[in-house]
Amino acid sequence: MIIHERQVVMIQSGSRGKRSVLKRRVVMGLKVLLAILVFSMYVAVLFRESLQAMEESKARMTSRIAKNAHRKTVMHHHHAFRNAVSNYHEAINPTKPTTLNPIYEYSEEVNAAAERAFTERKTHLWDICIRRGMVGVYPPNAWEFFVSTGHGLAWCNVFKAASSSWMYYFNILGGYNLAYLQRTKTSPLELARQRFPRPSLPELVDALANSISFLIVREPFERLLSAYRNKIEGFRNKYYKMLAEQIVKKYRKASKSKDSTGPTFKEFLTYLIHHYKSGSRFDEHWSPVFSFCTPCSINYTLIAKVETFQRDTEYIIRQAGLESLLLNKLPNKKVRAISNRSTSDTSHLIPKYFSQIDAQTLDQLLEIYEPDFELFGYNYTKYYELIDQD
Ligand SMILES: *[C@@H]1O[C@H](CO)[C@@H](O)[C@H](O)[C@H]1NC(C)=O
Ligand SMILES: *[C@@H]1O[C@H](CO)[C@@H](O)[C@H](O)[C@H]1NC(C)=O
Ligand SMILES: *[C@@H]1O[C@H](CO)[C@@H](O)[C@H](O)[C@H]1NC(C)=O
Repeated sequence: MIIHERQVVMIQSGSRGKRSVLKRRVVMGLKVLLAILVFSMYVAVLFRESLQAMEESKARMTSRIAKNAHRKTVMHHHHAFRNAVSNYHEAINPTKPTTLNPIYEYSEEVNAAAERAFTERKTHLWDICIRRGMVGVYPPNAWEFFVSTGHGLAWCNVFKAASSSWMYYFNILGGYNLAYLQRTKTSPLELARQRFPRPSLPELVDALANSISFLIVREPFERLLSAYRNKIEGFRNKYYKMLAEQIVKKYRKASKSKDSTGPTFKEFLTYLIHHYKSGSRFDEHWSPVFSFCTPCSINYTLIAKVETFQRDTEYIIRQAGLESLLLNKLPNKKVRAISNRSTSDTSHLIPKYFSQIDAQTLDQLLEIYEPDFELFGYNYTKYYELIDQD
């Protein structure tokens, strides 16, 4: 009974509101239509943007690949990505040519100059390796390398040659947060080794075949002077204090200045020359690069220089496709120090320090470092004009 009554009520109200229901349905239908329209426009816009992004990425890839047609070791995932992009691109847009828009400030000219320099350095290096009979003579020090297989980079860390900057980059690649890196008191080297442990020789050989391998060199005597000033002079470095004291004890003549002053440059060099003649292993801060990173035993992809650090570094970063991770990520303090390096304190101080040494010391010093000068295209002639002529 009750049900029946209710049905009657509903039917009655239905017949009364028939017109307004119809109106509501029309309005509702229009709203849905509008929503569908807006949504499909949104999808279309998104699709166009992603297509553009694809094209830009393809253009960049193409330019990079064209520049590197000669380079054999390209990472596998780059190939996969490039193929995926190019297949997709061709399916969507088979005829449109790619444009090579310069997306970054880093100009084609800078890039071309870097490329020429890298090619010349490599040709020169191997000429000297062969001429000096050094090919394959020194076994690689695998444990000195930082290898990131995931990023396709293998770096031989030459100490006192912009090493702290690349240590910073490797720590970013290792996944440390930028704020943490600037605030932490842990040494960058220690942090980096936690993420990139010392490779074994087989691991290194494997990595070299699949990575961009590089080292950064510096004018050998500027590097040496920088090491002396940083580690030895004035007993300032607590880790090297013991060595500095031993040098004073062994090489200072009693009549000379007091033992409380750190080793002079000349005393340090005398120690270095004796140490070399005794055949002992050199500290990594003044070890010659030819025996430390063994450039005549490893076919490095790129030989970078401190003197052209910014350009060379940007080139390496772009070659490795790590722009978004690494470009402009150095703290300002480091950037300032580096951009001023070639004209900085060390090179200004060269005349002052070398005026303290004599021709015989210079000759002996060159017995150690001459290969580094030659291999990396530096010239030591000027040092004979700077030394104490008596
Ligand atoms: C080094 O590798 C490049 C290409 O990967 C090759 O063209 C060159 O001949 C190699 N050089 C030496 C000395 O092995
Ligand atoms: C280099 O050093 C000078 C002062 O010696 C400074 O004025 C200049 O800003 C520095 N250059 C850079 C790029 O930081
Ligand atoms: C080094 O420079 C001097 C001139 O300053 C030049 O005579 C000499 O040939 C150069 N040496 C090398 C190896 O290029």
